[in-house]
Amino acid sequence: MTATLPAGIERVLFTEEQIERRIDEIAGQISDRYKDKNLKLIGVLKGSVFFLAALARKIRLPLKIDFLAISSFTNKSGAPGLVRIAKDLDDSIEGEDVLLVEDIVDTGFTLRYLLQTLASRGPNSLAVCTFLDRNSRRIVQVPVEFRCFEIPDHFVIGFGLDYNQLYRNLNYVAVLKPDRE
Ligand code: IMP
Ligand code: MG
Repeated sequence: MTATLPAGIERVLFTEEQIERRIDEIAGQISDRYKDKNLKLIGVLKGSVFFLAALARKIRLPLKIDFLAISSFTNKSGAPGLVRIAKDLDDSIEGEDVLLVEDIVDTGFTLRYLLQTLASRGPNSLAVCTFLDRNSRRIVQVPVEFRCFEIPDHFVIGFGLDYNQLYRNLNYVAVLKPDRE
């Protein structure tokens, strides 16, 4: 752990060591669950990249990896939660056991859209593994099979999560100072 935190960071929520230990546990559960399956990890760019890379290295099974990117927008009437695919998967997921890997599930709008879209493509199974879960802000109910950490209602950064595209490369998760939120 660094003695001084970068400007803008209020406090550390999860240290590098805590994250590594938790990812170990989750990877163990996934390794048990997906034995004899055709596991494919699908990462949602860009936030999940750090988590997916750490998780994949701890899963003791053969697996494939693919990525997609989404963009969220608000329509003219100001309705939140509209999502579209900005970069699609490279390959088909038909017949595969897909584990969608997310950085954080907040309102659930993004995840609901992704699950509906992926389910229509004929995977053998479809489940979700998220690094962080802010259940207190959920608006639409979505199934989350694996989660590393439940977090309080603060904006967080690090280990893939950004604020204005910065802070993704921190190897811990931290809360931003309120004036940055
Ligand atoms: P949802 O559709 O509201 O569940 O939004 C989830 C997406 O919002 C995540 O995939 C993140 O990209 C972004 N997000 C939500 N909360 C945070 C946060 O605390 N820090 C950084 N990104 C966040
Ligand atoms: Mg995201």
